[in-house]
Amino acid sequence: MTLVKVCKVVELPPGEMLGIESPDLPPVVVYNVDGEFFATSNVCSHAVAMLSDGYLEGDQIECPMHGGMFSVRTGEPTHFPCVEAIATFPVEVKDGEVFIDAP
Ligand code: FES
Repeated sequence: MTLVKVCKVVELPPGEMLGIESPDLPPVVVYNVDGEFFATSNVCSHAVAMLSDGYLEGDQIECPMHGGMFSVRTGEPTHFPCVEAIATFPVEVKDGEVFIDAP
């Protein structure tokens, strides 16, 4: 397990998301859903679009390209045209900082 620091808790308030570019991670987005933190791949499984350019609605991320949606909790698609799940990554919060468990 390799924890990679991605941001401070104060940089990601509830209802917000942050696209992360790090040499230690694939492209990921970290989300704050009412104080719970989640992370998924930043790349939509339908075509090439960055989910961090989309819209976080509760625990659903809407792709900016064709409006497909995924659960940020499970990565499962929840709205057409997305039918393939996206990867999710474990998140840990320690001492006011947010870490992603790198694959
Ligand atoms: Fe994301 Fe089409 S690229 S819904």
